[in-house]
Amino acid sequence: MASIQQSGNQSRGQWSGRMGFILAAAGSAIGLGNIWRFPYSVAEGGGGLFVLIYLFFVLAIGLPVLLAELSLGRESRRNPVGAFKALIPGKMWPYVGGLGVLTGAGILAFYSVIAGWTLGYLGKAVSGTLVQAQDGETSGEIFNSFVADPFWPILLSGLFLLLTLFVVRGGVSKGIERATTLLMPALFVLLIAMAIRAVSLQGGMDGLIYLFTPDWSKLSLNVVMGALGQALFSLSLGMGAMITYGSYVSKRENLWKSGIFIATADTGIALLAGLIIFPTLFFANADPLAGPGLVFVVLPTIFNQMPLGTVFAGAFFSLLAIAALTSTVSLLEVVVAYFVDEKGWKRNQAAVAVSGFCFFLAVPSALAFGAAPAFSGGEGSILPFNLDFLTLNNNIWGNYSLSIGAFLICIGVAWVWGVPRFLAALEDGGDRTFPMPGREVTGFLVKIVCPLAVLIVLIFIVVTGQYF
Ligand code: PHE
Repeated sequence: MASIQQSGNQSRGQWSGRMGFILAAAGSAIGLGNIWRFPYSVAEGGGGLFVLIYLFFVLAIGLPVLLAELSLGRESRRNPVGAFKALIPGKMWPYVGGLGVLTGAGILAFYSVIAGWTLGYLGKAVSGTLVQAQDGETSGEIFNSFVADPFWPILLSGLFLLLTLFVVRGGVSKGIERATTLLMPALFVLLIAMAIRAVSLQGGMDGLIYLFTPDWSKLSLNVVMGALGQALFSLSLGMGAMITYGSYVSKRENLWKSGIFIATADTGIALLAGLIIFPTLFFANADPLAGPGLVFVVLPTIFNQMPLGTVFAGAFFSLLAIAALTSTVSLLEVVVAYFVDEKGWKRNQAAVAVSGFCFFLAVPSALAFGAAPAFSGGEGSILPFNLDFLTLNNNIWGNYSLSIGAFLICIGVAWVWGVPRFLAALEDGGDRTFPMPGREVTGFLVKIVCPLAVLIVLIFIVVTGQYF
């Protein structure tokens, strides 16, 4: 692997080589979005139908936007705000980057809660509690009693933010890269082993049919919005994470190849998670509409069916926590890079301030899911309706904000910066051209298809009022 000496901008840091960058970017993309969010969104979106629309969005919108973000980042060598300032003329554009920075903090504030749950479940796995869950009912009880007491969810989300802070403080190549390089391949191997076990469970085939057969009667605007949001969320797009990571990439890298690799790996891991969850769900007779709790309810029952279940459970939740960490790191990095580049803060200061702030914002989400009768709308509630901050934040930041961001990024890149300049930046640094119609197709997707598709979904939602 070539180590890279880059001219200029030494103080911003850089990936030490191709594998470092690709694995860090794949590490950002692969996370709770694949293993926690994808399965319950599939369940809410009617199984195979959701999967089909999701795959379409990954190809038609995800990959082109990913290439656009990486190009913006590498060409400008800046955080999202700085990238727009440097490359795209017009006073309004830096605000698009600003929306991304805000979204980074917004996502981090609920993501860290779920990431905290993975730590809690790691504890349960190691102590042997999880392997006792033989069916959906028992594991549902374990989950409910875990989230009903706010102490651990709050404490663990704080702990998770602290871990994130430590990695980000270390900087680009030492901190972020090191954490990812070993652990992503390990996660992949473990998921394959679990998928093989899940598919061969009794009822496993029903799970596969559910995952791959579209039920068109379930088609609704919410499903389409959910799939769009999920495609963007899972690939870390629409808020500048890939602009920021792209800003540390050397001109030697072929961004076409990197982008295709990242999108394929991310989608593959999401499908693999589906191959584990749905067969197990049918086997355990669990409720598919368990929402954000789905994975935590379903998974324990598969460990019960595996030899060395405790070992598998421990390994799985360790790796899931690490996958989440490589994503929270990229979220925090966006906000930190903004304060470092634009406001002249020290990396350390920025990282401490931002993660502290996000912890503050995370508390209502940690309380909201089952733990806070005060917000439930029921007895003893201070509100007349159920206010679930976790789901609300997830929708606002994780679906709407990312979609609006992706729309604006496409307009900025294709219509203001211009497709020729975008393609030149994408292929900057020598023989980087993509064979055949890839260039034309990508230009067309970023210029016409992506913005139009996102706009249509958003307009329909506003007109019909089906927000969530
Ligand atoms: N892509 C990450 C995941 O799937 C989440 C994420 C979204 C990270 C946006 C960065 C930016 O878990």
